[in-house]
Amino acid sequence: MGKFYVTTPIYYVNDKPHIGHAYTTVVADIFARWHRLIGDDVFFLTGTDEHGGKIQKSASEKNKTPKELVDENSQKYKLMWEKLNISYDKFVRTTDDYHEKTVKQFIEKVWKSGDIYKGEYEGFYCLPDERYVSESELVNGKCPDCGRDVQKIAEEAYFFRLSKYKERILSAIKNGLIVPEKNANEILARLEDELKDLDITRKSVSWGITFPFDKKHSVYVWFDALLNYVSALDWPDGKLFKEFWPADIHIVGKEIVWFHSVIWPAMLMSADLPLPKRVIAHGWWTVDGKKMSKSIGNVVDPMEMSDKYGVDSFRYFLIKEKPIWEDGDFSEQALKSRINGELMADLSNLVARVLTLAERFDGKIEGKRELEGFIDKKRIEEAFDNYNLYAAINLIFEGIRKVNKYFNDMEPWKLNGNALSNVLYNALESIRIIAIFLKPFMPLTADKIEEKLGINNQSIKDAFFKEFTGKVVRGENLFDKIN
Ligand code: ME8
Ligand code: MG
Repeated sequence: MGKFYVTTPIYYVNDKPHIGHAYTTVVADIFARWHRLIGDDVFFLTGTDEHGGKIQKSASEKNKTPKELVDENSQKYKLMWEKLNISYDKFVRTTDDYHEKTVKQFIEKVWKSGDIYKGEYEGFYCLPDERYVSESELVNGKCPDCGRDVQKIAEEAYFFRLSKYKERILSAIKNGLIVPEKNANEILARLEDELKDLDITRKSVSWGITFPFDKKHSVYVWFDALLNYVSALDWPDGKLFKEFWPADIHIVGKEIVWFHSVIWPAMLMSADLPLPKRVIAHGWWTVDGKKMSKSIGNVVDPMEMSDKYGVDSFRYFLIKEKPIWEDGDFSEQALKSRINGELMADLSNLVARVLTLAERFDGKIEGKRELEGFIDKKRIEEAFDNYNLYAAINLIFEGIRKVNKYFNDMEPWKLNGNALSNVLYNALESIRIIAIFLKPFMPLTADKIEEKLGINNQSIKDAFFKEFTGKVVRGENLFDKIN
């Protein structure tokens, strides 16, 4: 038994959550649930990023105070996670008192390390991404990440000596900080250029944490936000911090790997703290082949999708449609065909057919262990160890299809007595084990299967063939066909 600390990015609350936010959080939830299932002590952190010029601007456009806006929208995230069955242990908000206290204390520590100095920032800034853009990074005069307009700024600022840590950052990345390799290589390529010190205060942004050494400045929103990963553990003296830091995995979208693998490690080095073990970068979702945007009107609301198609169908789709590392496309058509295909045809029908026969059978259900090993436990564990949820779900469904084939081949509807009991035994034990492996991915469905089998609270330790001791109730279908 070990410990496992997993985080999502904290999301900007200028708006409500969309499918991209849901994706990262579902991925993190699956890791958290898997590690609980195998007996680890888990801490799963998510939350909201609530300061900065972008929030300030969006509040004023909506005729709200920033505080009103962040309270409202951070609540929407909480409701969304409740709907999606996200089993987080803590929801951090950067406007929480303990967080602001941590940021100030941390800055004092970095100051003492001699890593902060006063200067002048002259360059560009992308407000939607809250990032500095240097002249040489501009692409056709726009932000290289998002292609939107940048602002020119020239203001007094305090700088963090990022440059000082370049060698140590390089070595952390070469030692596997970033997964997958293609994202590591991108960052390594970027580090071939000069690594400049980082402007960590904004004089012209009022919605932020006051910089403790000069009250005319607020703390740059990313310097504030990254600290959520330790403020939530009550750094420096908290019990949680001692138990769970360093993070095992920070899960992030590929556009913010730089912040998590360059800036964040340097901050930690300056404060003499251990680095996170891994930064896992995932690809982006497009919708009907296009980048999501309000002006196109194709922003996918996970709440609406879950209401319409079911929470577990939506979770399943997110994992099954693409490997984590790749970009993927969402469409309702694709979601429907996964429900009608694998969820209905493979999983739901199997459970319904087996349970229909088992419910009618009035003898003891027992037999020879013919299907033992139908599911490749070792490879599923390896898939999780390699952060490959896509491989894990595929292995589980391979197992499901094997049980289906066995059930069809045995033609149990033509059997009775011991022969029938034997087939039912094998099918029921397999279904029981399938429920265990589905728990991280589709917790509601796994519960429903256990309920139908009259069994509960299984852990990974139960994932082998034993005596069937459940009491079967067929009940309703797990999934129904969607037209
Ligand atoms: O960057 N596809 O917050 P944010 C997949 N506050 N994932 C997507 C996505 C898409 N189309 N769009 C967003 C911030 N995401 C900062 C983070 S952390 C200390 C501070 C997901 O609201 C993905 O995880 O812009 C991405 O990294 C994150 O949302 C960005 O959320
Ligand atoms: Mg963003």
